[in-house]
Formats: sequence, structure tokens, C-alpha cells
Amino acid sequence: MNLSYSPPMMKSAMSASVFPALLFCLAAALMSSPAQAQSGEAVGNADAGRKKASMCIGCHQIPGYKASFPSVYSVPLISGQSSKYIESALAAYKKGDRSHPTMRSIAGSLSAQDMADLAALYGSK
Ligand code: HEC
Repeated sequence: MNLSYSPPMMKSAMSASVFPALLFCLAAALMSSPAQAQSGEAVGNADAGRKKASMCIGCHQIPGYKASFPSVYSVPLISGQSSKYIESALAAYKKGDRSHPTMRSIAGSLSAQDMADLAALYGSK
């Protein structure tokens, strides 16, 4: 074992600036995936959801993200709720059946696949 060797660090600054762009590409790739176009119902993938949750964690805690601080908004803790519930809640925001403005604009940017993935992530506890 060579203790003096230190591997080059990944530039952590990268995630801050490049991540949204990566997310966008990921979303575009997912939306154009033929497998998804065929299946009527999107099948959630928690790992994919983890990559999409960057826009949720400012307000909602994610599973495994234990450092909780007193919340500024009164934001429901969504992790641990059933995936079906989370998915249908997001769909309801997107459709306008639920009226909260922030969640409406966020859900409006999500595809059915995004919602399924996020539901799988948050509901997977
Ligand atoms: C700016 C803060 C904010 C962000 C960012 C945000 N949310 Fe929310 N979310 C809220 C608030 C506030 C509510 C409660 C809204 C209401 O009363 O209808 C909520 C409600 C929800 C609910 C319904 C919970 C319930 O118990 O009925 C779900 C599901 C949800 N958010 C998922 C998400 C997901 C997934 C993301 C990321 C894509 C996200 N939210 C991003 C603030 C946020």
C-alpha cells in the first residue's frame, strides 16, 4: 500500500455548474428512449431519481440526507411516503389539481418518467 499517493480529486466545482446541463441531457435522453415510449406507465428508478432530485433537496429532504435543519417553509417531508402517492401528487401539481405555485412550476417541468423516478427515490425508504 502506498500511502503517499493521493489520487487527483474530481473537481467538485464541476457538479455545481455542469450538473443542470447534465440533468437536461439525461432528461432528454430518457424522453427519447423508445422503451419508455412503448410502455404506457413509466417505471420509476430510484437511481435515476437521485440525479433528478437536485432541484428538490433544497426544500425536501432526501433519504439518506440526514442533516435536517429547521425548515424555513412548512414543507411536507415526502421521503417515506408511498411512491404512488408521491407520483400522483406530482401529477396533480402538473395538471393543476393541486394549486401550490412552487410545486406547480416544478412539477410542470417534470416528465412522467421524472415523476416515476423521483417517486421511486423518495418512496423507496
Ligand atoms: C421551493 C421549495 C420546493 C421545492 C424546490 C420542491 N418542493 Fe415539493 N413541496 C414544497 C411545498 C411548500 C409543498 C407543499 C405544497 C402544498 O401545500 O400543496 C410541496 C409538496 C410536495 C409534494 C406533496 C407532498 C404531500 O404530502 O402531499 C410532493 C410529492 C413534492 N412536493 C415533491 C417534490 C419534488 C419531487 C421536488 C423536486 C422535483 C420538489 N417537491 C421540489 C416545496 C418545494
